[in-house]
This record gives sequence, C-alpha cells and structure tokens, in this order.
Amino acid sequence: MSQSVISLKEVTKVYQIEAQKVEALRGVTVDLKVGQMVGVTGRSGSGKSTLLHVVGTLDKPTSGEVLLNGTNISGMPDQMTSNFRNSTVGFIFQMNNLLPEFSALENVMMPGLIAGASAEEMSDRAGELLNRVGLGSRLNHRPGELSGGEQQRVAIGRALLMAPPILLADEPTGNLDKKNSDAVMDLLLELSEQNGVTMLLVTHDLDIAGRMPAQMVMEDGRILDTRGAW
Ligand SMILES: Nc1ncnc2c1ncn2[C@@H]1O[C@H](COP(=O)(O)OP(=O)(O)O)[C@@H](O)[C@H]1O
Ligand SMILES: [Mg+2]
Repeated sequence: MSQSVISLKEVTKVYQIEAQKVEALRGVTVDLKVGQMVGVTGRSGSGKSTLLHVVGTLDKPTSGEVLLNGTNISGMPDQMTSNFRNSTVGFIFQMNNLLPEFSALENVMMPGLIAGASAEEMSDRAGELLNRVGLGSRLNHRPGELSGGEQQRVAIGRALLMAPPILLADEPTGNLDKKNSDAVMDLLLELSEQNGVTMLLVTHDLDIAGRMPAQMVMEDGRILDTRGAW
C-alpha cells in the first residue's frame, strides 16, 4: 500500500469565544495517499477552512491526531512547525496575499528566501515556474499590475516553489470568472499530477470540485460523504 501523506484521526477543533463554544470540527478521520487529489465541498460554516488550517499546521486541533508524511505534528514546537510547514505545505487562498511592493518574481521566490536558500537559485526556479504558469513575460510586474487570474497564477507558482508534497487550496478560483477559473484549475491539476502532489481543494463550485478525481462533502464539522476515486 502506498504511503499516507495526510492522515487525520478523530480530529476535533473547538473555538471558544467568551462563553460561546463553536465545534468547527467534530471528529474528522481521513487518509490521503501520495498523489491523491480531493475536492472539498459543503455549506458555509461546515468546517472546510478549519480543516485546511489544521491540515496545514496553521491551527492546532483540540483533540485527535494529524500526521503529515508520517510525522505527528501535534506536539511539535512552534518554530519547528513553521519550518516544517514551509517545506511541506503549499497554500493557495482565495485572496492571494501577494506582497504588493514586490514583483511577481520576488513573490514567487519568497518562501525560498525565508528558508535561507540562495537568491540566485530561487530566482531561476521562480522564473521557470512563472514560465510554466504562462507569466514568463510578467516577471517584473507587481500584483497590482496583473489581472486577478494572473495574480492567482503567481500564487500557484509561489505555492509550488519549495516543491511541497502537499498543496492546500481554499476557494482558489473564488474571485475569478469562468474562463480564468478553468485555466487556474487546468494548471493546478497539471502541475500537481506532474509533481505527485497530494491536494485538498475547497470550493463551493460543484463543477470545480468535480474536476478533482475524488470529492468529500463536509457538514457540521464532519465528513458527510465521499465520492470518486478514493
Ligand atoms: N477563528 C475562529 N474563531 C471562532 N470561530 C471560528 C473561527 N474560525 C471558524 N470559526 C467557526 O467555525 C465554523 C466553521 O468555520 P469554517 O471552517 O470557516 O467553515 P467553512 O470554511 O466551511 O465556511 C463556523 O461556525 C465558524 O463561525
Ligand atoms: Mg471557508
């Protein structure tokens, strides 16, 4: 059997705001093998983003276990967790969070510079990635000088720079029209397949989710249903 890349066992997440408790995850157990790509759907508030945050080590589960590439991240100290995250997980959000003062090339290089890699090497790799996402002629443009679809392609390049085994996307096409959504999905699927990436992609758009080989539906902090190739 192939290796588990993302493995959750009975994961819960409770947010407490003053006297109010919100059970955002109520016992999620799921196991993704290398190269598995799953579209996550479900109503607003069903726990999709919380799930990605917990898988992406941005947030700690209240109980249960999260293993990434076989490593249990629950007890890891914060600094170790952020290094682990930088090398293991690529994120793509609806709001692309590109740094407005930096060029497309510099934005894509950023995770490498943070990790202490050589600027020259990162610049070469970032240039290659921007070529692959069709932005070879936009290296020196700042985010504000790019269209929404182009910005999201820069964000894809940035997410892939460290060649992470895991890609987490939360409504990556949420701000895009149909044509740009399709193009971004084409790219995500193509690059992920080439690199054997394991991916969770949250979307409210059932057509987009349907482009992933497998799907899961969240409801009220739980996995309600799974479909497709598991
Ligand atoms: N940081 C937080 N603090 C308190 N409650 C939160 C926080 N993040 C999410 N929630 C709550 O947890 C539930 C799940 O939210 P979320 O995972 O964002 O859902 P989705 O992404 O499916 O819309 C919601 O009821 C939401 O209000
Ligand atoms: Mg959400």
